[in-house]
Amino acid sequence: MSRRVVYTRGGSPADVLTVIEEPEQAAPQTGQVLVRTTAFPVHPGDLQAVEAYPGNGEESVPAGVEATGVVEAIGPGTPVAPGVEPGARVTVFPHPGAWSQWIMAAARAVVAVPAGVSDEVAAQMLVNPITAVMLRREAEAHASIGYDGVLLQTAAGSSVGRLLTAVSLAHDISLVNVVRSERGAAELRDRFPDVPVVATEDAGWSDEVRRVVGGRPLGVALDPIGGTLAESLLDLLTPGGTLICYGQTAPEPISLPASTLLHKSLTLRGMTVGRWMSDTSLDRQASDVAAAKLIAMAAKEQFDVAGAYGLDDLAEAVQHAQRPGKVGTVLIRPWD
Ligand SMILES: NC(=O)c1ccc[n+]([C@@H]2O[C@H](COP(=O)([O-])OP(=O)(O)OC[C@H]3O[C@@H](n4cnc5c(N)ncnc54)[C@H](OP(=O)(O)O)[C@@H]3O)[C@@H](O)[C@H]2O)c1
Repeated sequence: MSRRVVYTRGGSPADVLTVIEEPEQAAPQTGQVLVRTTAFPVHPGDLQAVEAYPGNGEESVPAGVEATGVVEAIGPGTPVAPGVEPGARVTVFPHPGAWSQWIMAAARAVVAVPAGVSDEVAAQMLVNPITAVMLRREAEAHASIGYDGVLLQTAAGSSVGRLLTAVSLAHDISLVNVVRSERGAAELRDRFPDVPVVATEDAGWSDEVRRVVGGRPLGVALDPIGGTLAESLLDLLTPGGTLICYGQTAPEPISLPASTLLHKSLTLRGMTVGRWMSDTSLDRQASDVAAAKLIAMAAKEQFDVAGAYGLDDLAEAVQHAQRPGKVGTVLIRPWD
């Protein structure tokens, strides 16, 4: 038998996620790769999908989108990416239902893990690095960022935020990191001493951002929070600037007078890795995956693991993933 995480109704993930047993997967068909997973990450988006699910308990939905593991078998005549062969370590994304001991993956979602990349990093090798790559590309498409312009990101202590900081340092991008607490700011300063950090718990945080920016254009802000924080970011942007929203954490909507957009010619954009899958050319996706692998090798130390749990401790794992102040991604090891 094989164990898999599913949900049948929406609500608190700790309450509605369950582990079921099902028959082991059959042999892979052409186009498929059978993977025995070793770890999978609990991403905020995985949990938001569970919370928002409108189902009424009748249909079972498999959870998760990313996992790492070892190739068990490849369907006959299946074209695979370099390095994908029986016994090879791979990461799979996108795969709806990745939180399972066994995955029957579409071959094009299976990526070989470079030598020297640990299972802990491999389990986070695609979603977050691809998000960082995509955000940097979008930011650069909308403003000059370097000596002559500054990029700002909120939730900078998040797993994505730390990768984006590492990517910005590698590309000489002038970045201002914004976090909500002084504790989080101190953690980031230790990690990236050359990147300024501002905490929104300080009443004068907007003025502190302006001081740090020092008169240079603040052309782009990256924000996965939304709500009133996003409104403050629009206020900070220079005329012509762009706010790129890539998550919704705040419960309240972004609400602003149209004149804020009009008088400064501001742009609001949304981005998700889901649209990356549907809207990005296959060539671009392949080059983004290659970039994600490079990030996994070059910035290993930014792939912190907040905690690792077995499937029997699933509720504890998802509660940990939602805990304020955690640093890193929670992993599940499905055979522990
Ligand atoms: N669009 C996409 O395709 C995409 C892809 C990946 C991730 N994301 C989004 O990116 C964000 C980060 O993901 P992750 O996996 O890196 O998350 P993570 O490591 O779990 O970190 C979550 C971060 O959000 C901060 N936070 C939570 N609630 C907040 C609030 N009300 N106000 C300000 N900050 C708050 C936390 O700050 P503390 O440290 O203070 O707790 C923490 O830094 C999530 O919103 C996620 O949904 C989007």
